[in-house]
Amino acid sequence: MRLHISRFLSCLAILAVVGCDRMPGKPKEATPVVIGSPAWTQSTFNTNCRGCHSQGAEGAAIPLIDAGYWKVATDAQVIQVIAQGQGVLMPSYLDSNGGPMSSDQIAAFVKGMRTLWGAGSSGGQGGISGTVVAGNASAGSQVFSSACASCHAAGGSAGSVTDPMYLKLISNQGLWSAIVYGRAALGSPAWNQPMPQHPNGLTPTEVADVVSWIAQSRPMSSANAQVNSIPKDKNVSDSK
Ligand code: HEC
Ligand code: HEC
Repeated sequence: MRLHISRFLSCLAILAVVGCDRMPGKPKEATPVVIGSPAWTQSTFNTNCRGCHSQGAEGAAIPLIDAGYWKVATDAQVIQVIAQGQGVLMPSYLDSNGGPMSSDQIAAFVKGMRTLWGAGSSGGQGGISGTVVAGNASAGSQVFSSACASCHAAGGSAGSVTDPMYLKLISNQGLWSAIVYGRAALGSPAWNQPMPQHPNGLTPTEVADVVSWIAQSRPMSSANAQVNSIPKDKNVSDSK
């Protein structure tokens, strides 16, 4: 009998717990946020990145909610940029640089973004390097006057990209990415789309050349060395 009573009591206790759960007004327990999950990735992006890297015509910097970006860019490259920043406008998010994320969180974040927006691509698949490559500036001058000048000459409809003040703010990598990915929603062609006198777009070498030529208009000082850097091992002009 004792046994029965105690079983009955514990049944009551269970009922009470289950019953309480169904009572109106009881706050639901928050679902635990799993680092790397789609929900965590999206909210991390919305909180930290969306204002600058949104999609379509929104956002000052190139869109990351964009399958074309993830097709070209590799995880290693994106992790490096988020951890260390890029040029003068893109901040560093690594905790040891004063940012809000650990290196594990950054790696999980990049993996999560690729899962959400990468359409199954693992990067390095766009037919062109995602990181800036040094080129031949004098050849780049020809590329600029044929392919770009109609939109980008000083006073052009799309704005000057050789203005020294603009070049103090955007890195060579930023120029590279603007040309490689374009901004369809703004009327800016990607590197392999038709441009004046280049009906099939540019070659990777022509992209490298035109970036090197544009970069020559940047006023140089030690303060903006970081926007002017091109990794040495990426120098294609050496092989020409
Ligand atoms: C059909 C016109 C057109 C052509 C051709 C074109 N662009 Fe653009 N480009 C644009 C537009 C439009 C934008 C977006 C401007 C804006 O931010 O509103 C843009 C943006 C850019 C940017 C980024 C500027 C920024 O706001 O950060 C760079 C750099 C750039 N183009 C370089 C080039 C280069 C180099 C070429 C030639 C290889 C080229 N573009 C060819 C129209 C063009
Ligand atoms: C204040 C605006 C701003 C915020 C916030 C910001 N970025 Fe950026 N980001 C930029 C700018 C501007 C550039 C280009 C800088 C340059 O090349 O000179 C850039 C560059 C990048 C690039 C390199 C793109 C390429 O391949 O050239 C990546 C990747 C990137 N940001 C990711 C992020 C992520 C992820 C976050 C959020 C954790 C973030 N950014 C937050 C402005 C921002």
